Amino acid sequence: MTFLYPTASNAAHPKPLSPDYKSSVKRAPQKPLIAMRHTLSELTGPVYGHETVRAGDNDLTTQHQGEPLGERIIVHGHVLDEDGRGVPNALLEIWQANACGRYIHVRDQHPAPLDPNFTGAGRCLTDGEGRYRFVTVKPGPYPWGNHENAWRPAHIHFSVFGRLFTQRLVTQMYFPGDPLFPYDPIFNAIRDPASRALLVSRFDIDETRPEWALAYEWNIVLGRGGRGTTPFEETR
Ligand SMILES: [Fe+2]
Repeated sequence: MTFLYPTASNAAHPKPLSPDYKSSVKRAPQKPLIAMRHTLSELTGPVYGHETVRAGDNDLTTQHQGEPLGERIIVHGHVLDEDGRGVPNALLEIWQANACGRYIHVRDQHPAPLDPNFTGAGRCLTDGEGRYRFVTVKPGPYPWGNHENAWRPAHIHFSVFGRLFTQRLVTQMYFPGDPLFPYDPIFNAIRDPASRALLVSRFDIDETRPEWALAYEWNIVLGRGGRGTTPFEETR
């Protein structure tokens, strides 16, 4: 992939030396500028726009030569504002464990196998109506050492950039009926049961594809924390 800094957009800014603006005479460089190479992180993040989100980034099952092991699933839904309007062009980024409950991360060394065909990260933009869709595998639960016999319920991490700072959301999506819910301090840190329920997806038989994948629907409400707003993954 080639990363290009859009220097053409610099034309929109004032030139450093604008003699009619007296202070610029002393401030402006006296010698020609020396171009410096930008670092990868300067050119790739943070990502808010469209240009580096590619078609297929929302399919976590096609990022390698082979297919990942596990239960293929579709996760889809609607990103809404507090007034129930779809939020178009919201950037959704997800990351998750593989079907065995293992992350590709140096700190995850628990004895479950890595899957060479699964990285566990994807992203997409919502469409004009605020809808999104991912194809992935169902993540496994994993131990996390918080307390004796601590296991996280299966979950997918979501990061959402809406159109406003108040529409920034980092949270987790869970699967319905998980037996680990009563034992998970992170899930139960959200004290209001109705708010907790907003993090649990719904099995969706209508979007389930015959002979191919089960579907789960999870709608996200971005807002300022009012009732019905999808909670962050941690609460005070
Ligand atoms: Fe996790």
